[in-house]
Amino acid sequence: MKLNIETYGAETLRRNAQPVMEITDEIRALIANMLETMHAAQGIGLAAAQVGRREAVCVIDIPSDMQDPTALLLPEMPLILLNPEIVEASGEQCAKEGCLSFPELYVSVNRAAVVTVSYLDRQGVQRMFRAEGLLARAVQHELDHLHGVLLVDKMTSVQKVAAAAKLRRIKKLGARTFQVA
Ligand code: NI
Repeated sequence: MKLNIETYGAETLRRNAQPVMEITDEIRALIANMLETMHAAQGIGLAAAQVGRREAVCVIDIPSDMQDPTALLLPEMPLILLNPEIVEASGEQCAKEGCLSFPELYVSVNRAAVVTVSYLDRQGVQRMFRAEGLLARAVQHELDHLHGVLLVDKMTSVQKVAAAAKLRRIKKLGARTFQVA
């Protein structure tokens, strides 16, 4: 089932996520619905807060043609991360980033180049992976969502001024949701 995506201005995007304590049918359904919603919206990542939920769940699916061909040890996609945490981060990268909660906004954001992430998989097994490039960026972006941190918080004041009209327009969507076609 496709879910509505909350856009910038929605309260739910600012909440801290709560850890998943048990893999229930409800969590399994949430994961399936989030994957369906992300794919329908042609996003590469989605956090539970973006569909109005509190659980520390995010999904990432980077198409193979967008992946860095030189990256080693790419985890299998889609990635389903429960209670994810970055345990190590190093280096720096800067590239344009978007977010399904900020339709049509793309801004350059600084991120760590390499991150090590620990998480529970959909079976509740504790796992870890190391990511670089676009995947490292996506992981950092989705983990920000779990802490109520949004793309706009990563923008410099100059970027915010340049994108002011666009941000206003997004906010006018009324902290409302947009329905994925
Ligand atoms: Ni996002």
